[in-house]
Amino acid sequence: MTEQNWRNWRIRIDDGNIAWLLLDVAEQKVNVLSSDTIDELRAVLDQVQTDRPRGVVIASGKSSGFAAGADISEFVPPPPAAQVGARLAIIHEQFDRLARLSVPTVALIRGFCLGGGLELALACRYRVAAKDDPATRLGFPEVQLGLHPGAGGTWRSVQACGPLAAMNLMLTGHTIDASKAERIGLIDRAVPERHLETAARRFIQGESRPHRPPLLARLTGIGVARPVLAEVLRRQVRKQANPEHYPAPHALVELWRQHGGSARTMLRAERESFAQLLQSPQSQQLVRLFRIQERLKEAGRSERFSAPRVHVIGAGTMGGDIAAWCALRGCRVTLQDRGAKYLAPAFERAHKLYRQRIRDPRARQQTLDRLMPDLAGNGADRADIVIEAIVEDRDIKRALFAELEPRLQPEALLASNTSSIPLEQLAEGLSDPSRLVGLHFFNPVASMRLVEIISGRDTAATAANRAAAFAVFLDRLPVPVRSSPGFLINRILLPYMLEALHLVTDGVPAPVIDQTMRRFGMPLGPVELADTVGLDVCLSVARILTAQFGGEVPAILEQKVVQGRLGKKTQRGFYEYRNGRIVTAATSGASGRDAEITDRLLLRLLNEALACLREQVVADADLVDAGMVFGTGFAPFRGGPMAYLRSRGADELRARLHELSAGWGAGFRPDAGWDDPRLWQHQQEGPNE
Ligand code: NAI
Repeated sequence: MTEQNWRNWRIRIDDGNIAWLLLDVAEQKVNVLSSDTIDELRAVLDQVQTDRPRGVVIASGKSSGFAAGADISEFVPPPPAAQVGARLAIIHEQFDRLARLSVPTVALIRGFCLGGGLELALACRYRVAAKDDPATRLGFPEVQLGLHPGAGGTWRSVQACGPLAAMNLMLTGHTIDASKAERIGLIDRAVPERHLETAARRFIQGESRPHRPPLLARLTGIGVARPVLAEVLRRQVRKQANPEHYPAPHALVELWRQHGGSARTMLRAERESFAQLLQSPQSQQLVRLFRIQERLKEAGRSERFSAPRVHVIGAGTMGGDIAAWCALRGCRVTLQDRGAKYLAPAFERAHKLYRQRIRDPRARQQTLDRLMPDLAGNGADRADIVIEAIVEDRDIKRALFAELEPRLQPEALLASNTSSIPLEQLAEGLSDPSRLVGLHFFNPVASMRLVEIISGRDTAATAANRAAAFAVFLDRLPVPVRSSPGFLINRILLPYMLEALHLVTDGVPAPVIDQTMRRFGMPLGPVELADTVGLDVCLSVARILTAQFGGEVPAILEQKVVQGRLGKKTQRGFYEYRNGRIVTAATSGASGRDAEITDRLLLRLLNEALACLREQVVADADLVDAGMVFGTGFAPFRGGPMAYLRSRGADELRARLHELSAGWGAGFRPDAGWDDPRLWQHQQEGPNE
C-alpha cells in the first residue's frame, strides 16, 4: 500500500490497485468544500491519472460524515457574480474530470452528504451509502439558503433519479436516508455500514450492476414531457413560495425547463443562475441566519450529552410534548403528573409523534421504552435534568421546588419552562439557586426550534451553558436571555399582536390584517396567531406585560375571553373554526392599506426589540433576529426584525414612529434604544446591507 498526502486529501493505493481518495479538510471538524479543497482536487486527479489505478473510491477521512457542502464563509459577503461564476467554473472542471475518468469511480458515503458533497458524489460513476447509520443523510439544502445546487447537481441529480425525484429533493431541501436514496436512484446501493468497502470494491471490479431509476422517471425529463412537467412544477412552486420572497425554487424550475435537454447549456446556466441568486438580498439574509444558527449551536457545545436522564413534571401541553421530544432525541425520560388521567393524553400524543417521525418499528418501540410514566416522581432522584412544566403559578411552582430540591443529584440541573415568572422569584427558597435555569420551549415543541435559555440573577454560568448544550442535544437552538418579564420573544411579540387587535377595534377586518402580514412574509397573520395561541393565554400575558411596561389591553380581547371565545381551541375566537380550519369567509386582495398596517404592527415590535437590546435582555441584534425567526417564523428571507430595521433605515423608521405616536399614542413613542446605533448595527459577520 502506498500513501500520498495533501493538505485536505490523502490518496492510498491498496494491494488491489484501487486508489482510495480520502477527503479530510484541514482545520475543520467537518468536510466543507472550500476553494482550497477544490484546487487540490486538481492535483489529486492529476496524480490519479499518473498512477492509473484500477478504480477510485472517494470517501471521507473524518468520522463526522462525508461532506457538508460548500464552505459558506466564502460567500459572506458575496463576491461579485463574475467572480462566483469563475469559481464555479473551476469546480465544474474538476468534477467533470472526475466524471470522465476512464476507470470506475465510487463515492463511499457514511454520515451526511449534503449540497456540494452530494454533487461530488454524483460526479462519481457509482455511489454506495450506509443504511444502518442514522447520521447518513443525503440532500440538497441550498434552497434553504436562497440558492440551488451550483456544482453540477442540477444536471447530475436529474440524470441519476429522474426529474421528479431530483426536483423534489432540490426544491424542498429535505434530506433522505440511504434506503430512500437507493429507491429513487440517487445512489446505487444502500448497505450496512460494515459492508461499505466491499460494496465499493465490487463496483470497481465490475461485479455489481448500477441501480437505475424506473424508465418512467427518466422519460418524464425528455422531449415534450419536459415543458409539461416544468409547468406543473412551476405552478406547485408558485403556490408554495412567493417568487419575490423566495426566488431560488422558481429559478431552478426555469433552469431545467429551458436547459434540461443539454448537459453543456444546463451546466453553464446553472453557474450563472447560482451566481445571480447569491447576490439577492434574500439569499444573503438566509445565509446570515444560517451562520447565526451555527453560532448558537457552537455556543451550546460546552458539554456533550449522551442519553441523559430527564425528569419532566407536568404532562400538559408543554411538559408532555417536551418529554416526548426528549425521548425521541435519545434521553431516558420519566414523566410525572398529579394522576394517571393527566398522563394518558401525553402518551397518546407521543405515540402519534413517533408514528410520524420513526419509520422503523423497532426504533419506534425503543423510543417509546425510553419514555416512562412516573406518578410517584421517583425519576427526579436520579435525573441529570429536571424540567418543571406545571401550571403557571409562582407559589405552586415554589412549593414543588421546595419538595424537590433535597432529592436532586448534586450536579442535576433544575429547569423551569415558565413563560412569564421571573426566575428570581422561583429561586426564592432554594438552597442552591445557582442551578435553576429557564428552559423556555415554544409550542408546538416538535416544530419550534427555538429554546430561550433564561438566566436569573443567581443562575450560574455553568448551569446556563449546560442548559444550552442540552438544547443543542435536543436539536433545538438555544438563545441566551436574561430573566425579565416576558423574556425576549413574548415581550416583543405581544405589542405586535395587541396592535393588530387595536386595528380590529379601529374597524380593519381581521382577514385584511392577516393577509397583509402574510404578504409581508409571516407564516400566520397576528390575529390568526392570537387565536392559535389562545385568547385567554394572550390576555394573561398581556396583563402581566402591560402592568410592567405600560400600554393598554384592548377591550375586544377581554370581551372575547368573557364570551368564552378563546380561539382555535374553542372553535371560536376572532375567526370561526371547523376541524381546526378557519371557516369565516376571507377577504381577498390587497386593501390599499398594506403600508399603514405593516408599519403600525412592525414598529411596535421593533420599538420593543430595541428596548430589550437597551436593557440587555439579549446580548445583540443577531439574537433578536434568530429568536424571532426560529421562535415565531418571522419572515426568514428578511433576516429577522433587526435586519429589516437596517434595510429600511433607522432614521426613516424613527420618523414614522413620531408620526404614528401623534395619531396612535404612547406605544409608538420611540424607545431610548433608537439613540444608540450600536444596538442595531451590531452584527457578528453579516452581509453588507
Ligand atoms: P397545562 O395546564 O397544559 O399542563 C400543566 C400540567 O401540570 C397539568 O397536566 C397538571 O395536572 C400538571 N400539574 C399541575 N400541578 C402539578 C404538580 N404540583 N405536580 C405535578 N403535576 C402538576 O399547562 P401548559 O400549557 O403545558 O404550561 C405548563 C408551563 O409551560 C407553564 O409554566 C406555562 O407558562 C409554560 N409554557 C406554556 C406554553 C403554551 O403554549 N402552553 C408555551 C411555553 C411555556
